[in-house]
Amino acid sequence: MKTWTHSDIIIAPSLLAADFGKITEEVTRSIHSGGDWIHLDVMDGNFVDNISFGPAIIQAVHESNDTFLDVHLMIQRPDHYLERFIESGSDLITVHVEAEHNVGETLERIRKAGVKAGLALNPATPFSEVEPFLDQIDLLLCMTVVPGFGGQSFMPEIMDKVSTAASLREERGLSYHIEVDGGIGTETAAVARQAGANVLVAGSSTFCAPDMAAAIESLR
Ligand code: DX5
Ligand code: ZN
Repeated sequence: MKTWTHSDIIIAPSLLAADFGKITEEVTRSIHSGGDWIHLDVMDGNFVDNISFGPAIIQAVHESNDTFLDVHLMIQRPDHYLERFIESGSDLITVHVEAEHNVGETLERIRKAGVKAGLALNPATPFSEVEPFLDQIDLLLCMTVVPGFGGQSFMPEIMDKVSTAASLREERGLSYHIEVDGGIGTETAAVARQAGANVLVAGSSTFCAPDMAAAIESLR
């Protein structure tokens, strides 16, 4: 599997916006359209007010396509389900700092399993909540919408967190990716990259575009 550093611009189309009637073909379409990773939004109907899919879908994507699986757990108990998401073939697992678990322990378990560890914070969550964990992660996800649904509008005020994350990474000699997720399209991708984000999650602006390859290119 290819490796990336935080100086790479990585486009991660979000499967939530794909046609659920042909999920594995949609992943293939994403890869052929130039997507670097595939972003898989797991929702439990508890942590967020929506239910999407579980480990079985991650497994189906893993078995049908050779691409980097960026798994975003919007679930209350990521610690309880962790093994199943590791077994299903996730390459990176992102958990929310607001969920009900021991954050440090969960991050450690993810890395121990040889999987990249990500930590996400919602728009209303202050950056200080994630600061203690920056040396335990491979990716920080700054949500640019309230999680639960695709197709929402980008929240520009989140860029302060992105630039804080970028400067702390330099200051502390760390190397985590900075990912933004929600309302990312051509204009907002440029704003997010300018602030320091290098992983751009995009659902409706890629899977729903008339030309997915052109849409992905426009984000770079
Ligand atoms: C929202 C998800 C996002 C969403 C992005 O809870 O975490 O990944 O699918 O969709 P767009 O790009 O349409 O905002
Ligand atoms: Zn997501």
